[in-house]
Amino acid sequence: ERANMALIFNKYKGRITTLRKEKGWMTENLYMYQGFWHQSGRRISIEAVMAIQDTFKVHPTDIYLATMPKSGTTWLKALVFALVKRNKYKSDSLTHPLLVSNPHICLPFIESEIFRNTPTYVDGDSPRLLATHIAYTSLPQSIRDSSCRFVYLCRNPKDVLVSMFHFANKLSNKSSGLMTFEEAFKMFSKGIMPNGPYWDHVKGYRKVSLEHPKNVLFLTYEEMSTNTTNIVKRLAEFLGYPFTEEEEAKGVVQEIVMLCGFDNLSEVNKHGNIREGIPNSVFFREGKVGDWKNHLTDEMSLVLDEITKEKFHGLDISF
Ligand code: A3P
Repeated sequence: ERANMALIFNKYKGRITTLRKEKGWMTENLYMYQGFWHQSGRRISIEAVMAIQDTFKVHPTDIYLATMPKSGTTWLKALVFALVKRNKYKSDSLTHPLLVSNPHICLPFIESEIFRNTPTYVDGDSPRLLATHIAYTSLPQSIRDSSCRFVYLCRNPKDVLVSMFHFANKLSNKSSGLMTFEEAFKMFSKGIMPNGPYWDHVKGYRKVSLEHPKNVLFLTYEEMSTNTTNIVKRLAEFLGYPFTEEEEAKGVVQEIVMLCGFDNLSEVNKHGNIREGIPNSVFFREGKVGDWKNHLTDEMSLVLDEITKEKFHGLDISF
């Protein structure tokens, strides 16, 4: 498998050397490809994005979850996995995959686990539940041509910045030095972040969701936090797995909300690694709305608010 990967990566090497490059948040550089920044390294990488653009085959029943990193991907994965598979895996079962594994193992990224064909919980069941951080316009053409359902989860950019700052510093190679919040802020404002610019990523999916509301459900981390139960019901309806009255009466919705809640999942994922060098726990930090208030100066906040106001004009996005 390693040799195969090396072969694929070699194929795209030449193309990568021609791309604009910036120092990344972690040890790896970022490359600008089709308007978005990608890392080139052992984890999710630009070579994989290029490769799946050439080879990925969509199934008409696929369900895709799309996010900017740090927008609540892990939470959304857990919720969608739990609700779509609720008949196969009962949420009160002690062997539920979400109680013995990480949501990223239960519901893989197309540009990472699926591309690498690493063993996961992915069963052969239809629909396939898949995730991606790839910007809409860079998705494999077969996906964009399909009428598959998409859920896009968006989060207040200021909280995304804070979350990314802590994530990067936790994963970064300590010898190369940790980044300061000031540095992180500067990079984020310039759009430099894996899969960024943040604003262009959100805008791409927001536009499709407005044009094709039946195919793309656009949610925010903030509404999911204040109104989890209702959002889970909306998700279930949208994905074609509505809760029956009987289920609601039995408290199945609430069970799923609790199973996927921050307290439960952060406890389950306290130990172990999702992959070498990536602890399960790194995906769980605070899980709150508005931690940016403890990190950003008034001036930083103003700068990001201005960019957001301008970029999201007319898109009806609020946090
Ligand atoms: P914070 O760093 O602000 O705490 P992603 O999953 O896209 O990488 O995003 C990670 C963010 O989602 C982190 O935010 C993390 O704590 C939060 N998160 C993870 N699981 C969650 C859950 N079950 N409920 C709410 N937030 C969660």
